[in-house]
Amino acid sequence: MKTITVKASKTYDILIDTSLLDEAGSIIRKTSAGHTAAIVTDDIVATLYEKRLKDSLEKNGYRVVSFVFPHGESSKNTDTFLSLISFLAQEKLSRSDIVIALGGGVTGDITGFAASSYLRGCRFVQIPTTLLAAVDSSVGGKTAVNIPAGKNLIGSFYQPDVVLCDTSLLSTLPADVFKDGCAEVIKYGIIADYKIADRSLFESLAPTLLVQTPINTQLEEVIAKCVEIKRDIVMKDEFDNADRKLLNFGHTVGHAIESLSEYGISHGQAVAVGMVIESRAAVRLGLCKEQCLQDILQMLTLYGLPVSTTFKADEITRICLSDKKRDGKSLTMISPLEIGKCVLKEIPVNELENVIRLGLEEV
Ligand code: GLY
Repeated sequence: MKTITVKASKTYDILIDTSLLDEAGSIIRKTSAGHTAAIVTDDIVATLYEKRLKDSLEKNGYRVVSFVFPHGESSKNTDTFLSLISFLAQEKLSRSDIVIALGGGVTGDITGFAASSYLRGCRFVQIPTTLLAAVDSSVGGKTAVNIPAGKNLIGSFYQPDVVLCDTSLLSTLPADVFKDGCAEVIKYGIIADYKIADRSLFESLAPTLLVQTPINTQLEEVIAKCVEIKRDIVMKDEFDNADRKLLNFGHTVGHAIESLSEYGISHGQAVAVGMVIESRAAVRLGLCKEQCLQDILQMLTLYGLPVSTTFKADEITRICLSDKKRDGKSLTMISPLEIGKCVLKEIPVNELENVIRLGLEEV
């Protein structure tokens, strides 16, 4: 088992192994003396894993209640959030009881936000079931729901008490959902130059592709490396004022593409295209060499991820300008200098459309 400790406003462990779901009750029992555990999950994950988690919690003395909502980004809204809060109140959860997010990014984000606001904060455990949640959304304490004005516009920073990443749960993911996580993994390889054995994370993704089954040590090592990168960034900048923005590489444009497609284009696919557009713009602005862009294009293509979009610069710009990453008269874009090294680049609002156009234009 790999254990990665995060020391932020709360200190907690991220455990990575192949059998954590069935051990969840005893692990959680060590972090909490509570009486009730509320499992929050979507309808698909519920059919696959809810019973195993419930059994494990009951064996360790918890009364278990479950809140199950329809899967998908469209559930990540204030209605689901309020229903969840009402459910916790109805079940009389106290601050020392535990709310457990069992699922992907949508489940983790909405459950974390509910845990942070119900009774002004109760105990919270993340059990990610997607690669994307394992390497990104379950770590670092960002919680949120969407509102009609934009994605993740309401939320909080609220660190979990423990994250249990059971890699065997990834084997049931639809291939496209697994690929979404691969886009985030590739992102980590571009923003940081951490090594696995003697290769950089980015290089180590090419010779042997990440696969869901059989769950192998390469996948576990890659997840652990991404989590270490995120942990180190979060420990330096928990509240997203500086370095943490590096984690948004590809996301400024990516979120706009997701939103323009009305979430028909998944987060990972949109981030893949966003990374290409932001990298090509960096090349055209003289920040980064063409070879770096070519390496990124090649890696994304190898993983079957999209590298272009039919949305236009003005459409993408309009959505970017309503993004919460906008800061007054400028917007922070993340630009690669080389593979393994990115910088924050402030783009004045009135230049954004031109920069995006540079990123879109293939020559
Ligand atoms: N997903 C980006 C962050 O956690 O900051």
